[in-house]
Amino acid sequence: AGSGLMDRFGRTATDLRISLTDKCNLRCTYCMPAEGLDWLAKDQVLSDEEIVRLVRIGVDRLGIRELRLTGGEPLVRAGLTGIIAAIRRNHPGLPVSLTTNGLGLDKKAQALKDAGLSRINVSMDSLHPETFARLTRRPFLDRVLRGIEEADRVGLGLVKINAVLMRGINDHEAPALLDWAVRRGFELRFIEQMPLDADHGWTRENMVTAAEIRALLEAGGFDLAPDPRRRDGAPAERWQVRRSGGGSVVGTVGIIASVTEPFCADCRRTRITAEGRVRSCLFSHEETDLRGLLRGGATDEQVAGRWREAMWAKPKAHGMDHTGLGDADYVQPERTMSAIGG
Ligand code: GTP
Ligand code: 5AD
Ligand code: SF4
Repeated sequence: AGSGLMDRFGRTATDLRISLTDKCNLRCTYCMPAEGLDWLAKDQVLSDEEIVRLVRIGVDRLGIRELRLTGGEPLVRAGLTGIIAAIRRNHPGLPVSLTTNGLGLDKKAQALKDAGLSRINVSMDSLHPETFARLTRRPFLDRVLRGIEEADRVGLGLVKINAVLMRGINDHEAPALLDWAVRRGFELRFIEQMPLDADHGWTRENMVTAAEIRALLEAGGFDLAPDPRRRDGAPAERWQVRRSGGGSVVGTVGIIASVTEPFCADCRRTRITAEGRVRSCLFSHEETDLRGLLRGGATDEQVAGRWREAMWAKPKAHGMDHTGLGDADYVQPERTMSAIGG
């Protein structure tokens, strides 16, 4: 009943991203402040039942076809496997994935798989313990690597690895990261740093661009050719990877160029924050509360109606002019990346 999540610019959101918590156990410099944030109180965060209900409304009434669970760090949420199992019971065919920093994944991967999780993306920016610790402000590289290996071992689909490159810190590691991912059979994605950090430390000069990333990889022993598979609205543009000098394709690398090659015109995403507000865009300045409706006895159709209204107002694009001239007009949202979930 009813229509999907359409906006004024002709896009329809079919991919839902729900943040399960605002908390995280790392402090990546491009995302969180060293001291952390003022965490939400427990009763402000959606309950397990509320999350499962929102997913049901999204799938049954609003045309949601894919779900991704995010945070903060979703593995710190106690009820995680129960939430996944309940969603899986309601929607046997729904792709359900998780974006995580990998801490604790070594112990939880099997339970997540058993609960019905389809796929996993793990953030890991460096293979050097000191560089990892400098970027995340925590010395946990070994634990993340163990988590990745365990996710792979239990068969959580094709494991994707997300790496944000920071100039002068880990950008020189791009070819080594790709070499590792190719050997291990993971799909590595490099992400342009976005201005969503708590410290407001983003500058255009320091952002490592997609064009630079391709050049770094080609100088570091790889040839890239466009991947013929359809992009389907995905943030990552994929490239087929060969070792320099020809030979066969050894893997795939993705580049997520939100700033220099924006993909807003093809966006299919709708987001729910940990406290139950719709964010129509990563860079929105407005949010629409659904928690009040859920707790106030609203019907599924009333919740769906509010969600549709929120998405109708989705901005056309994030407003970071890729020529670099429009930066003065860009206003960073109040919410930092960790509180959106990426
Ligand atoms: P896959 O389905 O595995 O391709 O997932 P994904 O790449 O959409 O999700 P993931 O959570 O791994 O996000 C990877 C990067 O893409 C993160 O830095 C996100 O912030 C970024 N990203 C995800 N969705 C959007 C979006 O709608 N807009 C922009 N600009 N970036 C996004
Ligand atoms: N710019 C780009 N990507 C970011 N992430 C976190 N903060 C930023 C940022 N400022 C990434 C994380 C994770 C994903 C959810 O978002 O590294 O892989
Ligand atoms: Fe979609 Fe907003 Fe991301 Fe653009 S910035 S791709 S509109 S979520």
